[in-house]
Amino acid sequence: MALLEVRNLTMKFGSLVACNDVSFDVEKGSVVGLIGPNGAGKTTLFNCVSGFYKPTSGKLFFDGRDVTNLPAYEVARLGAVRTFQVVRPLKEMTVLDNVLVGAFLRGADNETAHSVAEECLSLCRLEDKSGNLAGGLPIGYKKRLEMARALATGPTLLMLDEAMAGLTSTEIKEALEIIKGLRERGITLLVVEHIMEAIMSVADKVVVLDGGEKIAEGTPRDIVEDERVIKAYLGAKFTERLKRTGEVTKNG
Ligand SMILES: Nc1ncnc2c1ncn2[C@@H]1O[C@H](COP(=O)(O)OP(=O)(O)O)[C@@H](O)[C@H]1O
Ligand SMILES: [Mg+2]
Repeated sequence: MALLEVRNLTMKFGSLVACNDVSFDVEKGSVVGLIGPNGAGKTTLFNCVSGFYKPTSGKLFFDGRDVTNLPAYEVARLGAVRTFQVVRPLKEMTVLDNVLVGAFLRGADNETAHSVAEECLSLCRLEDKSGNLAGGLPIGYKKRLEMARALATGPTLLMLDEAMAGLTSTEIKEALEIIKGLRERGITLLVVEHIMEAIMSVADKVVVLDGGEKIAEGTPRDIVEDERVIKAYLGAKFTERLKRTGEVTKNG
């Protein structure tokens, strides 16, 4: 059984169909990339899975349980936690305190919360910034803080919404290392990215959305060779470059 099952998910805003009959699975322990151009419906799908939107139709199962109509806090309590595309740290608080908030959400006592927070800061490579005010951090660190806060709530499924957008190539590499580290810890990841190259090296599977529809699903290697994906999104040039630079390393 997959950890997350998305079944025929449709989300309409009036006459606009943001997600149209989307189905896919996220296997336990895997990293699944959700990619597609702007407006493809990626964030809307996240909002449905994480309980922020009630889907127009379709079903969502998390760990075998029907979570379609559960509110966000209950979905999070069950272990499916997301970050936001637009980061929103508690600016007047330190990095450590921001992460402690996440740990306390789990009902941890003071000592446990501190050890959880410190572990999450270290996993997200923020231990040096622990005493800094969150509001003053550069965007790369803010994105990592967003990850650390979500992580501190103890998720089994961590959903990252464009955690790498706006980052430099060095910061992207670091973010990918962090994602690999989380996977090694047994956390399942659903990663929304606009930047295809970023996700190709870590994803076990990639789901491609375009205009609210799933147009492809497969290994990174399958995806870069998929005619529909090339047409809708990548462009033949991109595929050639990706093959040449050998950035598709996972799954062949
Ligand atoms: N709350 C909303 N109300 C109305 N339309 C929305 C809302 N959220 C998203 N949309 C529309 O749904 C489509 C998909 O948006 P979104 O899920 O944000 O795409 P992505 O994250 O892939 O860029 C877009 O056309 C967007 O304008
Ligand atoms: Mg989005």
